[in-house]
Amino acid sequence: MNPLRPVILAAADSPRLKRMITGTPITADIVRRFVAGEDRDELIPVVRELLASRRLISVDFLGENTTDRAQADATVAEYLSLINDLAALGGSADAAARTEVSVKLSALGQALPADGPAIATENLHILCTKAGQAGVWVTVDAEDHSTTDATLATIRQLRAEFPWLGAVLQAYLHRTVADCGELSGAGSRIRLCKGAYREPHTVAYQRSAEVTDSYLRCLETLMRGDGYPMVATHDPVLIRAAEQLAVETGRGPGQFEHQMLYGIRDAEQLRLAAGSTMRVYVPYGGQWYGYLTRRLAERPANLTFFLRALVSKS
Ligand code: FDA
Repeated sequence: MNPLRPVILAAADSPRLKRMITGTPITADIVRRFVAGEDRDELIPVVRELLASRRLISVDFLGENTTDRAQADATVAEYLSLINDLAALGGSADAAARTEVSVKLSALGQALPADGPAIATENLHILCTKAGQAGVWVTVDAEDHSTTDATLATIRQLRAEFPWLGAVLQAYLHRTVADCGELSGAGSRIRLCKGAYREPHTVAYQRSAEVTDSYLRCLETLMRGDGYPMVATHDPVLIRAAEQLAVETGRGPGQFEHQMLYGIRDAEQLRLAAGSTMRVYVPYGGQWYGYLTRRLAERPANLTFFLRALVSKS
């Protein structure tokens, strides 16, 4: 894992830095690399282009840590319109090839005082009902470790009615190998990623090699299990491991999928799409700050590019 990552993520919490980053027009260039647009009008052409290149999509309306009920309601309304727009693009006869939305429970109200988790569960139920009717999948993103229990409880509860509801598990958490074992039952859609938040060593592996080892253990459990693994990584070692396990377990293209983030390793996305199922996570919306800082923290080269642009224009 990038050694600067915790430092960058800690600095990103500073309101002053946030004002500076969001206030400079230079930021727009780097935001455009990772974010498909400010609104659905900008998003939809990007989605069409990805679908035309044999890539599937999972769309995220950016936003997190909502502390205002009205904002959570506005997020639900936006997702309902998004699901309509995605359904209008035409579904696939093959269930595994459906379009998908990804959602953060903290954007649906999980962090609201008192009954936040119940509000988020109720809001997710509204989205799943609509998505089920429209033939669109839903997967719930994983946020910082303090939310994991509440998020998995919501997913378990709603899976009784919507068995296709996807969950994200983060390999850097010590608990995740066990979570993979528990959640890899028949039909279970699990997206496995390394994890993008700043976490203490008491709950999460800190060293890159440890995270990779944990990812490999989790991947093996999922690929040998009865569920539908969604292998969310850009790491060539892990992509090769997934391909190898797919051969060993006899999983064809419709029985697991590769996933990557919009704007990262585009050529590799196209290579994988030619022979496997490949889905791109496509974020859009105005609340891109948290998402952007996690992408900057993952790769010092992104930060250097950003700082250089900042210095050269000032
Ligand atoms: P790693 O960071 O080691 O990167 C491997 C290689 O990929 C790098 O060497 C570089 O070539 C390229 N790369 C990776 N990140 C890059 C970047 N930002 N810019 C340019 N190149 C980059 N996390 C989380 O905590 N909760 C979640 O819900 C999700 N959801 C999610 C969905 C999907 C579809 C993906 C692909 C990822 C997530 N993540 C996430 C993020 C994930 O946890 C992780 O932080 C990133 O995927 C980076 O880790 P890699 O596995 O790609 O490896």
